[in-house]
Amino acid sequence: MTPPPDTDACLRDALDGAGLDPRLADALAYSVLGPGKRVRPRLCRMAAEAIAERAEHGPAAAIAAAAVELIHAFSLIHDDLPELDDDDLRRGRPTLHVHTSHALALLAGDAAHTLAFRLLARVDDATLSRALTAELADATLAMIDGQVRDTLGVDDEPDAEALMRTHALKTGALIRCAVRSGALAAGATEAQLVALSAYADAVGLMFQAVDDLLDVTATADTLGKATQKDADAGKTTFPGLFGIDGTRARIARYRDDARDALAGFGASADPLRQFAADLAARDR
Ligand code: IPE
Ligand code: IPE
Ligand code: MG
Ligand code: MG
Ligand code: MG
Repeated sequence: MTPPPDTDACLRDALDGAGLDPRLADALAYSVLGPGKRVRPRLCRMAAEAIAERAEHGPAAAIAAAAVELIHAFSLIHDDLPELDDDDLRRGRPTLHVHTSHALALLAGDAAHTLAFRLLARVDDATLSRALTAELADATLAMIDGQVRDTLGVDDEPDAEALMRTHALKTGALIRCAVRSGALAAGATEAQLVALSAYADAVGLMFQAVDDLLDVTATADTLGKATQKDADAGKTTFPGLFGIDGTRARIARYRDDARDALAGFGASADPLRQFAADLAARDR
């Protein structure tokens, strides 16, 4: 999966244009421009392209894609801290707090978060800028809520319903935001937004189900992050609740739900269809 070139260009501009202390700028570049899969910006751009051709989007879809990736980077930097998942390895390299310091990792997370909203403030069309900001703010709060549930546990028995809610919040919300933001930037109708949101909800659950599965079935070498961690950390996960085969069955079901949600779209949504199929089959 090669990232579309302009997401990284937009991210680089956002970092370079901020005039930050070089230590903070280096920490941000390490995490934001590191070798991630760029799933969210790619979904954002593909959703925009399902609505209208790229030439018609203007810069808003690329800006929204970069803003979502900045929030994702913030979430991972803090997720890896000892107070949360306590991980040393991310994307095949030391996590940011190991590479630099805990203080800089905390502050780089704060800065990535703020840079995302700074980018959206620069979308020329004021109505679109406000809509994208509201989408990203809601999704970021949902992600943080999900992280609270994942980290501190939930009051009730951790059953399937609680798991879906945690995963929809901590991972699904940003994926939904990526897809909806791309669609909004390209001028989607309400009906198109509803269909694409259903696609995103299925992809969001599928994505975290795959992530949970790979924690059990993959190795740190292929995945670039530690594995076999979730069960020991007492996390409620898909394999923990449904077993490995049950998780695979659910992944296939979410993949089909994602495909079905796009039934009203023509060939312009083929990249989204293929992307969901590829994510479901991901083994690294
Ligand atoms: C990891 O996300 C965190 C989850 C929500 C599961 P990604 O798997 O998209 O991480 P990168 O950006 O590719 O490293
Ligand atoms: C992270 O979920 C979700 C976030 C909001 C960052 P995980 O804790 O399972 O992600 P990994 O496995 O560390 O990438
Ligand atoms: Mg976590
Ligand atoms: Mg983690
Ligand atoms: Mg995980």
